[in-house]
Amino acid sequence: MPNCEMLSFANPKVMARAATERWIDQLAARRDDSAPFCVGLSGGRIAGTFFTAVAEQARARAVSLAGAHFFWADERCVPPDEAESNFALARRYLLDPLAIQPDKIHRLRGEIAPERAAEEAEAEICRIAPLNTAGQPVLDLIFLGLGEDGHVASLFPGAPQEVVVTKAVYVPVLASKPPPRRITLNFAALAAARQVWVLVSGAGKENALRESLAANGKTPLARVLQMRDKTLIFTDLAI
Ligand code: 6PG
Repeated sequence: MPNCEMLSFANPKVMARAATERWIDQLAARRDDSAPFCVGLSGGRIAGTFFTAVAEQARARAVSLAGAHFFWADERCVPPDEAESNFALARRYLLDPLAIQPDKIHRLRGEIAPERAAEEAEAEICRIAPLNTAGQPVLDLIFLGLGEDGHVASLFPGAPQEVVVTKAVYVPVLASKPPPRRITLNFAALAAARQVWVLVSGAGKENALRESLAANGKTPLARVLQMRDKTLIFTDLAI
């Protein structure tokens, strides 16, 4: 099994609460609130459950997320107020409930040309987050979901080689999951992050998870796991 730790839970709610507790503990333990805590968010069903749990627990425990800067692991090329927007999902269940300030929100502009949105988002994330020696932003924590086909963020199986190896931090892609036009963080940025937590929930993903954990796994998640020293997987699947 690649360098990862897997934690199993009975159901999506318990899993989301456990991931939340672990993140809120980390934020509460931070000594230096002045340094930005850069976090990358994903979309999807489990993301909504997770965001709700974070908003509830942060309020209940009076832990501030004011020091966090919010970026996205991927976005669909739709306007920010549309139901399919990953930003809209986060705004509704996390950013608005916790009154996160606009200067801490660095969304991908799904409503403009994807190439331009990717360029401007790269400039923004590299302005805020520290860079590694390869010039990739080092986010403190990226939350990913997993698709039935083994995709993470909007890095799908069968992506063109130039997407797989690109050094551009954000890259426009055509996805097999609707809506097709998307922008995603590249593999190098996922590999560079200090922490990556994958929340794997939902029937039909058992094979994708097994394949991703195989030593010679070929799924996009497998690639991320193989590129990293450590990744944390939360799942409610019995595998
Ligand atoms: C997206 C996501 C995507 C998602 C997985 C899991 O924009 O679609 O970022 O990578 O995390 O598809 O989604 P579900 O939890 O809905 O299965």
